[in-house]
Formats: sequence, structure tokens, C-alpha cells
Amino acid sequence: MAMRNHALQIFLDAAKNAFSAQAKDPRAIQSINHIFAKLTLVAPQSTPNGTQLPICRYLEDFSNPAKFDEPVLRKLIACFFELEPQLVWHQREGNWDGASENFADTHANAVLVGPKGLEQREDVWLGVSLLGPNVQYPDHRHTPEETYLVLGEGGFCQGHNDWVHVTTGETFFNPYNIIHSMRTQARPLLAFWALKEKPGTA
Ligand SMILES: [Fe+2]
Repeated sequence: MAMRNHALQIFLDAAKNAFSAQAKDPRAIQSINHIFAKLTLVAPQSTPNGTQLPICRYLEDFSNPAKFDEPVLRKLIACFFELEPQLVWHQREGNWDGASENFADTHANAVLVGPKGLEQREDVWLGVSLLGPNVQYPDHRHTPEETYLVLGEGGFCQGHNDWVHVTTGETFFNPYNIIHSMRTQARPLLAFWALKEKPGTA
């Protein structure tokens, strides 16, 4: 069996605790439990050279664990920034429909676990999106259901529903294949996402 990257394992332990402690929506709780149960089995690892995009300067806004009240968030951030030098930050690869005009220069994504991630697998994904101020992410959909865990603040939307304001420590759940988006105003957003593939799909 593959051995897991040590910093990734430490991060996943912290992510499990943070997602589990912060999620309130029963659908999110069920999804998170499933995801972290799956992650007890290790998949093949990759060791890319970490690369940032210019927008990654906003990571500094999140890098001090002492800024967060919740111990699980402090631990999550500390472990994330131990792992961050290994991450390959990239622009979104899917459609950009509905994105703000500044989108290209104001966002970055990185996959920790999932296709092209530090751990490569299809059944569950764990990643992170960084948005600078005043940016709207594209409307998008995917078969995996998704739970976001937010640091900073932003608006989250599904279909034609009203925007929901989500702030540090809160989660937001997207069911399988629902159209959804997120946006920022004055403050940047660091959103961790945990995806669980629809049964029978992967
Ligand atoms: Fe999504």
C-alpha cells in the first residue's frame, strides 16, 4: 500500500477535525464522515514542485493561526501552511461562465487529494480555493457533492436562490450536480472543499 506524504496526513487529520466540528448541515456531516472514512485508505502519491500564482499573496491574510478563535481552525491553518509549499496553485480549468471580468488574476485553486492532487484518486477530493476581494467565481456544477469550509468571508449561491453570507468557520453544502457559485466583497476568501463522488460514478 502507498505511504502517505507526512505533511498531507497531518493536514488530513486536522481537516477531519475541523470539518467535523464546524459542519451543522446533516447532509454535510454525512458527506464528511464518508470522505474521511475513505481517506483511511491511502492512494498513490505525487511529489510536484509547488508553484504559486500572483494572487497567492493573499494567503498571508490567513497564515497566522492565532487570528482564529476556534482551536480546530488554528490547527487546520497551521497544518495547511506546513503543506502549502508543495501545492500547485492553478487557475480553474472548467468553464468561466458568470465569472467577474477580473477572475483570471483574482483566484487560484489547488488540489490536495483528487485528480492531479498530492494524493491521486477519484472517489473523494479535498482542495482549496483562494479568491481575492471583489471577485465572482463561475457558475459551475459537478457530480460530486461538496462541502465548503470557509475562512474569511464570502457569498455562496445555488441555482437562482439568494446569496448566503458565509464567514470564518462556517460550512456550505452543495448536493450532487447543483449549479453553484461564490463571490467576495472587500475581504479575500480561503475556501476548503471536500467532495464525495456520487456512488456508482467512481
Ligand atoms: Fe464546486
